[in-house]
Amino acid sequence: MAILQQADVAKHFTERFGQPPELIVRAPGRVNLIGEHTDYNDGFVLPLAINRAVWIALRRRDDRCVAIHSIDYDQQGHFSLENLTNDDAGWVEYLKGTAWSLKDAGHELGGFEGILIGDVPLGAGLSSSAALEMATARALATVSNLDWDPAVMAKLGQRAENKWIGVNCGIMDQLISAAGQADHALLIDCRSLQTESVPFPPGVAVVVLDTATRRGLVDSAYNERRSQCESAAEFFQVPALRDVPLELFAQVGNDLDDVTERRARHVVTENDRTLQAVEAMRRGEVAALGVLMNKSHESLRDDYEVSSDALNAMVECAQAHAACHGARMTGAGFGGCAVALIDAAAADDFVESTAKAYQEQTGHEPAVYVCQATDGAAVVDMAT
Ligand code: GLA
Repeated sequence: MAILQQADVAKHFTERFGQPPELIVRAPGRVNLIGEHTDYNDGFVLPLAINRAVWIALRRRDDRCVAIHSIDYDQQGHFSLENLTNDDAGWVEYLKGTAWSLKDAGHELGGFEGILIGDVPLGAGLSSSAALEMATARALATVSNLDWDPAVMAKLGQRAENKWIGVNCGIMDQLISAAGQADHALLIDCRSLQTESVPFPPGVAVVVLDTATRRGLVDSAYNERRSQCESAAEFFQVPALRDVPLELFAQVGNDLDDVTERRARHVVTENDRTLQAVEAMRRGEVAALGVLMNKSHESLRDDYEVSSDALNAMVECAQAHAACHGARMTGAGFGGCAVALIDAAAADDFVESTAKAYQEQTGHEPAVYVCQATDGAAVVDMAT
């Protein structure tokens, strides 16, 4: 799929409205390098915002209504900001939920009309819904003259997802979509919401490997993992597993039942790996970073049990290529995407050979592509 450009987005608006948009906002999807299932344990994550995004081109309205046409669904959505109701109406609920969350936080909102378009694949684990929430927040904040604080807006986006959409996610996806930085990954402390940008060592590329498998029931498995983590934190008498050091876990972890012990071990070791990965990136030690990614995958597969046959096959195909420093599943799991860190000079061969090997092994036709780290949600400069 071709990557959407600002000019394509403006053109869609002009076709419908007969004049160019007043403004365009863009909010990216993400891929997580390491730090999986740690965000709701108050831990550390290291994602990057990618060059696949949700875009809204719009002009203001003065009747406190939002009217938006989704190019991808070829559907119109319309709602009043005065009277927000959840009608379970698909994609438009993400816009309504975000508006509700901003209003509920005390903001006066203005309306707009426009078009919505995106190139973050849906349901692939690249956070298309967080991108839609943050694009909506960016649009509403701009037409309503609100300050843009990425962490505050990410929290409001997460609240929309938790309370309006009913998905019990952590903060990672909304925060990286709001605060991403070009050419960098972002270390996020999911307790303080402090972020620190970490540059990529020269000569590496990040590759997204979409297994072309999607699984239902992700939500119930996700909620089950969350409550297992909560019981483990209770056992250690701490607010969250973030507070359990490796040494303490090694001493008393085996007093937990087998499943809870394995879930907790994943989280405790993954937090440690994530902080180590930041150090490795800063020192330019790509081999060490790759090893940490491989270990993260093993832990997600064996201890946290959120991988799948397709994800394992994809990760093994990637790891078998000489240009691969490391590979792992990324996102919630059970299907969707893996991520690999590779030698950029060999990117073409890696993409082609890995896709071929995976397809031969599984029969699924994957999508494998290099991605760039981009800035987070922003109003696009119309002069460029
Ligand atoms: C999903 C959730 C995130 C995070 C990841 C797993 O993407 O939305 O909050 O928990 O799963 O790391």
